[in-house]
Amino acid sequence: MKFFIDSVDIQAIKKFTLSGMVDGVTTNPSIIAKSGKDFKEVIREICEIVPGPVSAEVTATEAKLMVEEGLILSKIAKNVTIKVPLTWDGLKACRTLRNDDVLVNVTLCFSASQALLAAKAGATFISPFVGRLDDIGLNGMDLISDICEIYTNYPNLNTEILVASIRNTNHVIDAAKIGADVVTLPPNVLKQLISHPLTDNGLKAFLDDWKLTGQSIT
Ligand code: E4P
Repeated sequence: MKFFIDSVDIQAIKKFTLSGMVDGVTTNPSIIAKSGKDFKEVIREICEIVPGPVSAEVTATEAKLMVEEGLILSKIAKNVTIKVPLTWDGLKACRTLRNDDVLVNVTLCFSASQALLAAKAGATFISPFVGRLDDIGLNGMDLISDICEIYTNYPNLNTEILVASIRNTNHVIDAAKIGADVVTLPPNVLKQLISHPLTDNGLKAFLDDWKLTGQSIT
């Protein structure tokens, strides 16, 4: 399973990339707005740190303009992945960009039928938002199961399932059990993946006991 970071926090991206856990990065206009950073600059900076796919989202709503924006963004670095929304225009832009060999992440997916359309449009990634479905009382992980089942039935569809809108570590484990290709994680969730009190207590006990031996390995 690939881990992407859903953030433009450069310190967090650097830290987790050094730990070998980061396969890519996702951003969206809300994340950019919240950060106060210059969009193209921060995408460039992230692409210098992370060699894997870095998603940058278009903000036009018409296919022709989406393609125009996508081509501008894709020139920032070769690993820039263009994010388009799951609309008819977005799917049209997806097909055009894919024909130009640009990586495309189709975002804001909330149904299996939408995921099927994105795969037919040649999307590199489909981003179903599990947390936002949970937020309205549905089960986001059911959508991941449905998409996995559908894509498995058609091995000629090469779209990777990128589980987005992740809120907690259970989402990551459930997505891994289902066999999703990628999870995109807010840094706090990535950090929580390693936490276990028995690990902390166990390590403390081992180190305390080791001190009593008076020995040194080096
Ligand atoms: C990732 O590509 C999405 O933009 C992101 O995961 C959305 O998460 P949110 O629902 O927490 O905003």
